Amino acid sequence: MWGSRFAAPPAEAFDAFQRSLPFDRRLLPYELAADRAWARALAAAGILTAEEASRILTALDELAQQVQAQPELLHRSAAEDVHSFVEQQLLTRLGPLGAKLHTGRSRNDLVATAFRLFVKDAAREAARAVMALLAALFDQAGAHPDVPMPGSTHLQHAQPILLAHYLLAHAEAFFRDAQRLRRVRESADACPLGSGALAGCAFPIDREAIAHELGFARITANSLDAVSDRDFALEYLFALALTATHLSRLAEDMILFASPEFGFLILPDAFSTGSSLMPQKKNPDAWELIRGKAGRIVGALIGLFLTLKALPTGYQRDLQEDKEAVFAAHDQLVAMVRIAAGALAATTFVADRLRQAAADPALLATEAADFLVARGVPFREAHEIVGRICREAEQRGVPWTELPLETLRTFSPRFDESLPAALTLEAALARRSVPGGTAPETVQRALAEGRVRLRELEAAL
Ligand code: ARG
Repeated sequence: MWGSRFAAPPAEAFDAFQRSLPFDRRLLPYELAADRAWARALAAAGILTAEEASRILTALDELAQQVQAQPELLHRSAAEDVHSFVEQQLLTRLGPLGAKLHTGRSRNDLVATAFRLFVKDAAREAARAVMALLAALFDQAGAHPDVPMPGSTHLQHAQPILLAHYLLAHAEAFFRDAQRLRRVRESADACPLGSGALAGCAFPIDREAIAHELGFARITANSLDAVSDRDFALEYLFALALTATHLSRLAEDMILFASPEFGFLILPDAFSTGSSLMPQKKNPDAWELIRGKAGRIVGALIGLFLTLKALPTGYQRDLQEDKEAVFAAHDQLVAMVRIAAGALAATTFVADRLRQAAADPALLATEAADFLVARGVPFREAHEIVGRICREAEQRGVPWTELPLETLRTFSPRFDESLPAALTLEAALARRSVPGGTAPETVQRALAEGRVRLRELEAAL
């Protein structure tokens, strides 16, 4: 492919070190699509005759079929990368005509084109997986419309919320992830073919026609940028890393909630493992692996960032490092999302235990402060009054809600017989009916809206 200028072949160790075919063979369908588009563009520009182009196109189709039937043809090839693999195959099949396809193009614009096509498809696959997880969250939320749970900050009981509200909180994060993945598709949606090695193609090929044939929305604007730019790959890795981070946080909650101390949920057998020693164990390994694997996806992002940093302008071989990072992160993330969706759908939430935990009187302290505010007490003062009541109850060793009204009235004369009605879980939930709040009807509306947004996003992808 480039040997004539060399007196000696590459050292065996170096050849193995530099070859990318073992991983970039995954790009073959995209490489072949780019080859077809290029053959047509060369014919349209009068560089190939119609007959030559048609023979090349036939050979490309045959190659695709043959690789499908016998993958070893690709897997055992000694070619340096997927681009030279196709070129070698065309030479074998077509002789000198096979050598004409590389006119005016470079592996630099080819690899950028094939990789962008891959990222476009991959981002859509990842977004679809995330949308299936969203559906699982919505189904669990819909199945538990009125189950309360303690809402926490700092892992300390804060205010009561609905389990459905909690599940929809995770859904919001994953919805943003799906949207972000969709935007990555748009970032990758520009065709670099025709940029040549760096300076642009010297033959009058129609770049717009090539982009159109390959399903790109537009062409890249600058040939030098087009062969150096891997922003789309970094954006994809960021979108994957953030999705993985959200998954890891969901996993952490599920692991805690499955512990006997919480007991909020029962792990599904189908997504749990046992212990080789302790017969009673059921372990949340699915969630632990999801939490663990998130690390390597963030690692892939940082790795490619560091590869790209300080590269001089133009194609550098360092850029070959982009593919393994993206392939591995994509495969892991899609697997993680699918396992999370399966595990979540099969999880049993323990409504009685959640209700019991949500009955902690500490969760209603804010209601008492709000009760005073409604009777004219400035909030800061109300907060202090209820804080003193909580301390007093703690010293007496009783829940603060069990202090007699006369005692409460020594802290503020504004407490009266209507207090108990305000201090119920139902009242605390119902009061939070602002958009985005945890009141039952508000949560139902949010769920219905979430399902509509999901359908819209599905249609847009
Ligand atoms: N295999 C290379 C890559 O993945 C593309 C080949 C370009 N090589 C070159 N020496 N210009 O980036």
